[in-house]
Formats: sequence, C-alpha cells, structure tokens
Amino acid sequence: SRERTFVMVKPDAFQRGLVGEIVSRIEERGLKLVGMKLLTPSREQGEEHYAEHEDEPFYDDLVGFITSGPAVPMVVEGENAISLVRDMIGATDPAEAEPGTVRGDLALDIGRNCVHAADAPDTAEREISIYFDADEIETYERND
Ligand code: CMP
Repeated sequence: SRERTFVMVKPDAFQRGLVGEIVSRIEERGLKLVGMKLLTPSREQGEEHYAEHEDEPFYDDLVGFITSGPAVPMVVEGENAISLVRDMIGATDPAEAEPGTVRGDLALDIGRNCVHAADAPDTAEREISIYFDADEIETYERND
C-alpha cells in the first residue's frame, strides 16, 4: 500500500557531502519527496527521535551525534515506502550492510551510518511529527 516514511541524512553524511547521493537514490528509485529540510536537530528533537533507545548504553552518544551539526530530514512517499527505504539503506551496522545499499556503499561506523529511516508506520508518523508541521508536507503529482 502507499505509505509515508521518515528518512534523515545524518550529520556524518552531510559533512562528507553525501546529501545529493542519498537523495538521488531515493528519487531514482521512484519514491516521492514530499518534505525536506536542512537543520541541526535540537537536543529535544534528538532525544525524542531516539526515545526508544533511551536505556541503551550508546544513547547519550547517539543524541550527541545527531545534534552535532546539519542533517536533512525528509518525508518520502510511495508504494511500500517504509520497507523499500529500509532495504535501500541496508543493515544498521555498515560492516553487515550489503554492497548496493547506502550504508554498504558509503558508511563504515555503526554510529556514523549516514542515514536513518523509520522501521514501521507508527514510528514513521511519530518521527515525521518531530521534524515537520503538517503544512510543511507537500502534495503534488510526479510524472515519471
Ligand atoms: P538508526 O537507524 O539511526 O537508529 C538507531 C541508531 O543507533 C542506529 O541507526 C545507529 O546509528 C545507532 N546505534 C545502534 N547500535 C549502536 C551501537 N552499538 N553503538 C553505537 N550506535 C549504535
């Protein structure tokens, strides 16, 4: 079914000039970009974004990293967009990510793994609402 998902180019990829590469892969796959921003996540946004990892030993580093500099949050729409994007970005640990995936091609470090994508419809909507107001998401036709 048609879904919306949340995707974010993380600060490591931003700093390495990989924004265009990552956005291109999403566009070229035929997915539709309906929301996009350039911002440095606030501490509040970072903590909310990763609330489910609150009890993990890496939580403080994770929030510190995601708030460390510019990132590009996106709302992406398409048929089965959630699992499609998860497949495109590859395993969380780049050492286990297949070649051809974003992390398999571009990342080396589990913390600095270039991109985040929501894993389910409820988390997608929750994460979208952390970074976007409803009126910041566009509706339009894509002519492929
Ligand atoms: P992401 O998909 O953004 O969701 C949670 C993030 O936590 C994950 O990518 C990793 O960057 C990070 N993460 C997961 N496990 C570890 C770990 N063992 N050490 C450091 N960071 C981790």
